[in-house]
Amino acid sequence: MRKSGAITMATSTTSARSEMHNIVLTGFMGTGKSSVGRLLAQRLGFRYCDLDARIVEEEGISINEIFSRHGESHFRALETSAVRRLAQEQQCVVSTGGGAVIAPENRRLLMEVGVVVNLTASVDEICRRLREETDRPLLRDNRSEEHIERMLAEREPYYAHAELRIDTTGKSVEDVVAEIIVYLKERGFAWKP
Ligand code: S3P
Repeated sequence: MRKSGAITMATSTTSARSEMHNIVLTGFMGTGKSSVGRLLAQRLGFRYCDLDARIVEEEGISINEIFSRHGESHFRALETSAVRRLAQEQQCVVSTGGGAVIAPENRRLLMEVGVVVNLTASVDEICRRLREETDRPLLRDNRSEEHIERMLAEREPYYAHAELRIDTTGKSVEDVVAEIIVYLKERGFAWKP
Protein backbone atom coordinates (compact mmCIF):
# COMPACT_ATOMS: atom_id res chain seq x y z
CA MET A 1 0.00 0.00 0.00
CA ARG A 2 1.12 3.51 -0.70
CA LYS A 3 1.55 5.73 2.30
CA SER A 4 -0.34 8.99 2.35
CA GLY A 5 1.54 11.49 0.22
CA ALA A 6 3.53 8.80 -1.54
CA ILE A 7 4.26 9.43 -5.18
CA THR A 8 4.81 6.38 -7.32
CA MET A 9 4.55 5.28 -10.91
CA ALA A 10 1.00 4.21 -11.72
CA THR A 11 2.42 1.97 -14.42
CA SER A 12 5.87 0.55 -13.94
CA THR A 13 8.36 1.16 -16.70
CA THR A 14 12.01 1.25 -15.67
CA SER A 15 13.08 0.69 -12.08
CA ALA A 16 14.90 4.05 -12.08
CA ARG A 17 11.61 5.87 -12.80
CA SER A 18 9.60 3.90 -10.29
CA GLU A 19 12.12 4.86 -7.62
CA MET A 20 11.44 8.56 -8.08
CA HIS A 21 10.95 9.98 -4.62
CA ASN A 22 11.53 13.70 -4.81
CA ILE A 23 10.90 16.72 -6.97
CA VAL A 24 13.92 19.00 -7.41
CA LEU A 25 13.44 22.61 -8.49
CA THR A 26 16.35 24.33 -10.20
CA GLY A 27 16.60 27.78 -11.73
CA PHE A 28 18.18 31.18 -11.63
CA MET A 29 17.67 33.51 -8.67
CA GLY A 30 14.19 35.01 -8.78
CA THR A 31 12.55 32.29 -10.85
CA GLY A 32 10.28 31.34 -7.94
CA LYS A 33 11.81 28.07 -6.72
CA SER A 34 10.97 28.65 -3.05
CA SER A 35 7.38 29.86 -3.48
CA VAL A 36 6.63 27.16 -6.05
CA GLY A 37 8.39 24.53 -3.93
CA ARG A 38 6.38 25.33 -0.81
CA LEU A 39 3.03 25.20 -2.59
CA LEU A 40 3.94 22.13 -4.64
CA ALA A 41 4.96 20.27 -1.46
CA GLN A 42 1.65 21.21 0.11
CA ARG A 43 -0.31 19.98 -2.92
CA LEU A 44 1.57 16.67 -3.12
CA GLY A 45 1.63 16.07 0.63
CA PHE A 46 5.43 16.09 0.48
CA ARG A 47 7.89 17.81 2.81
CA TYR A 48 9.55 20.98 1.60
CA CYS A 49 13.31 21.33 1.74
CA ASP A 50 15.22 24.48 0.87
CA LEU A 51 18.90 23.64 0.32
CA ASP A 52 20.14 27.17 1.07
CA ALA A 53 18.08 27.30 4.26
CA ARG A 54 19.68 24.02 5.34
CA ILE A 55 23.16 25.43 4.75
CA VAL A 56 22.30 28.58 6.71
CA GLU A 57 20.92 26.51 9.57
CA GLU A 58 23.95 24.22 9.69
CA GLU A 59 26.52 27.01 9.41
CA GLY A 60 24.69 29.39 11.72
CA ILE A 61 25.38 32.36 9.43
CA SER A 62 23.63 33.86 6.40
CA ILE A 63 24.50 33.11 2.76
CA ASN A 64 25.85 36.67 2.52
CA GLU A 65 28.16 36.02 5.47
CA ILE A 66 29.33 32.67 4.10
CA PHE A 67 30.32 34.41 0.85
CA SER A 68 31.97 37.38 2.54
CA ARG A 69 33.82 35.46 5.27
CA HIS A 70 34.78 32.30 3.36
CA GLY A 71 34.25 32.99 -0.36
CA GLU A 72 32.11 31.45 -3.07
CA SER A 73 34.15 28.25 -3.38
CA HIS A 74 33.52 27.43 0.28
CA PHE A 75 29.79 28.00 -0.27
CA ARG A 76 29.88 25.70 -3.33
CA ALA A 77 31.52 22.95 -1.24
CA LEU A 78 28.78 23.29 1.40
CA GLU A 79 26.20 23.19 -1.39
CA THR A 80 27.64 19.97 -2.81
CA SER A 81 27.63 18.30 0.57
CA ALA A 82 23.99 19.35 1.05
CA VAL A 83 23.16 17.91 -2.41
CA ARG A 84 24.92 14.64 -1.50
CA ARG A 85 22.76 14.31 1.60
CA LEU A 86 19.60 14.53 -0.52
CA ALA A 87 20.09 10.86 -1.36
CA GLN A 88 18.52 10.14 2.04
CA GLU A 89 15.35 12.08 1.24
CA GLN A 90 12.01 10.73 0.15
CA GLN A 91 8.80 12.54 -0.69
CA CYS A 92 10.42 15.88 -0.59
CA VAL A 93 10.14 18.94 -2.83
CA VAL A 94 13.63 20.41 -2.89
CA SER A 95 14.42 23.95 -3.94
CA THR A 96 18.05 24.46 -4.85
CA GLY A 97 20.16 27.62 -4.96
CA GLY A 98 20.52 29.17 -8.41
CA GLY A 99 24.10 27.95 -8.79
CA ALA A 100 23.59 24.41 -7.50
CA VAL A 101 23.53 23.08 -11.07
CA ILE A 102 27.00 24.41 -11.94
CA ALA A 103 29.00 21.49 -10.52
CA PRO A 104 28.71 18.36 -12.69
CA GLU A 105 28.51 16.17 -9.58
CA ASN A 106 25.53 18.17 -8.30
CA ARG A 107 23.73 17.90 -11.64
CA ARG A 108 24.21 14.13 -11.68
CA LEU A 109 23.08 13.72 -8.07
CA LEU A 110 20.04 15.97 -8.49
CA MET A 111 18.87 13.91 -11.49
CA GLU A 112 19.35 10.75 -9.40
CA VAL A 113 17.32 11.87 -6.39
CA GLY A 114 14.22 13.05 -8.18
CA VAL A 115 12.39 14.62 -11.08
CA VAL A 116 14.31 17.79 -11.92
CA VAL A 117 12.08 20.71 -12.87
CA ASN A 118 13.81 23.87 -14.08
CA LEU A 119 12.06 27.20 -13.62
CA THR A 120 12.92 30.05 -15.96
CA ALA A 121 11.83 33.66 -16.34
CA SER A 122 12.64 36.50 -18.70
CA VAL A 123 15.54 38.80 -17.79
CA ASP A 124 13.04 41.65 -17.31
CA GLU A 125 11.01 39.66 -14.88
CA ILE A 126 14.06 38.42 -12.96
CA CYS A 127 15.29 42.02 -12.61
CA ARG A 128 11.86 43.12 -11.44
CA ARG A 129 11.58 40.30 -8.89
CA LEU A 130 15.08 40.91 -7.52
CA ARG A 131 14.92 44.71 -7.48
CA GLU A 132 14.60 44.96 -3.70
CA GLU A 133 16.78 41.96 -2.87
CA THR A 134 19.78 42.27 -0.58
CA ASP A 135 20.54 38.64 0.25
CA ARG A 136 22.03 37.58 -3.11
CA PRO A 137 25.81 38.05 -2.80
CA LEU A 138 26.40 37.41 -6.51
CA LEU A 139 24.18 40.37 -7.39
CA ARG A 140 25.36 42.66 -4.60
CA ASP A 141 27.56 44.86 -6.77
CA ASN A 142 25.72 44.53 -10.04
CA ARG A 143 22.05 43.83 -10.65
CA SER A 144 21.99 45.16 -14.20
CA GLU A 145 20.13 43.36 -16.98
CA GLU A 146 23.46 42.81 -18.80
CA HIS A 147 25.01 41.07 -15.78
CA ILE A 148 21.98 38.85 -15.24
CA GLU A 149 21.77 38.09 -18.97
CA ARG A 150 25.44 37.05 -18.99
CA MET A 151 25.02 34.77 -15.95
CA LEU A 152 21.91 33.22 -17.47
CA ALA A 153 23.72 32.53 -20.74
CA GLU A 154 26.66 30.93 -18.91
CA ARG A 155 24.35 28.72 -16.88
CA GLU A 156 21.85 27.86 -19.59
CA PRO A 157 23.49 24.49 -20.48
CA TYR A 158 23.32 23.51 -16.80
CA TYR A 159 19.70 24.56 -16.32
CA ALA A 160 18.85 22.55 -19.44
CA HIS A 161 19.64 19.39 -17.43
CA ALA A 162 16.01 18.99 -16.45
CA GLU A 163 13.12 16.75 -17.23
CA LEU A 164 10.70 19.64 -17.41
CA ARG A 165 11.30 23.36 -17.96
CA ILE A 166 8.67 25.94 -17.13
CA ASP A 167 8.77 29.61 -18.03
CA THR A 168 7.28 31.36 -15.00
CA THR A 169 7.16 34.81 -16.65
CA GLY A 170 3.79 36.43 -15.98
CA LYS A 171 2.47 33.33 -14.19
CA SER A 172 1.27 32.95 -10.64
CA VAL A 173 2.81 30.43 -8.25
CA GLU A 174 -0.48 28.56 -8.48
CA ASP A 175 -0.21 28.39 -12.32
CA VAL A 176 3.31 26.98 -12.16
CA VAL A 177 2.39 24.38 -9.55
CA ALA A 178 -0.60 23.34 -11.65
CA GLU A 179 1.68 22.86 -14.70
CA ILE A 180 4.04 20.66 -12.73
CA ILE A 181 1.17 18.56 -11.43
CA VAL A 182 -0.25 18.14 -14.95
CA TYR A 183 3.18 16.97 -16.10
CA LEU A 184 3.49 14.45 -13.24
CA LYS A 185 0.03 13.07 -13.98
CA GLU A 186 0.76 12.82 -17.70
CA ARG A 187 3.91 10.89 -16.95
CA GLY A 188 1.98 8.39 -14.87
CA PHE A 189 3.01 9.53 -11.41
CA ALA A 190 0.28 9.23 -8.84
CA TRP A 191 0.09 10.24 -5.20
CA LYS A 192 -2.44 10.39 -2.44
CA PRO A 193 -3.59 13.90 -1.58
C1 S3P B 1 23.13 31.61 -5.95
C2 S3P B 1 21.78 31.65 -5.68
C3 S3P B 1 21.24 31.79 -4.33
C4 S3P B 1 22.24 31.28 -3.29
C5 S3P B 1 23.58 31.92 -3.49
C6 S3P B 1 24.16 31.64 -4.88
C7 S3P B 1 23.59 31.49 -7.35
O1 S3P B 1 20.02 31.05 -4.20
O2 S3P B 1 22.37 29.87 -3.39
O3 S3P B 1 23.42 33.30 -3.28
O4 S3P B 1 24.76 31.16 -7.57
O5 S3P B 1 22.77 31.71 -8.26
P1 S3P B 1 18.63 31.53 -4.86
O6 S3P B 1 18.61 31.05 -6.27
O7 S3P B 1 17.60 30.83 -4.03
O8 S3P B 1 18.56 33.00 -4.74
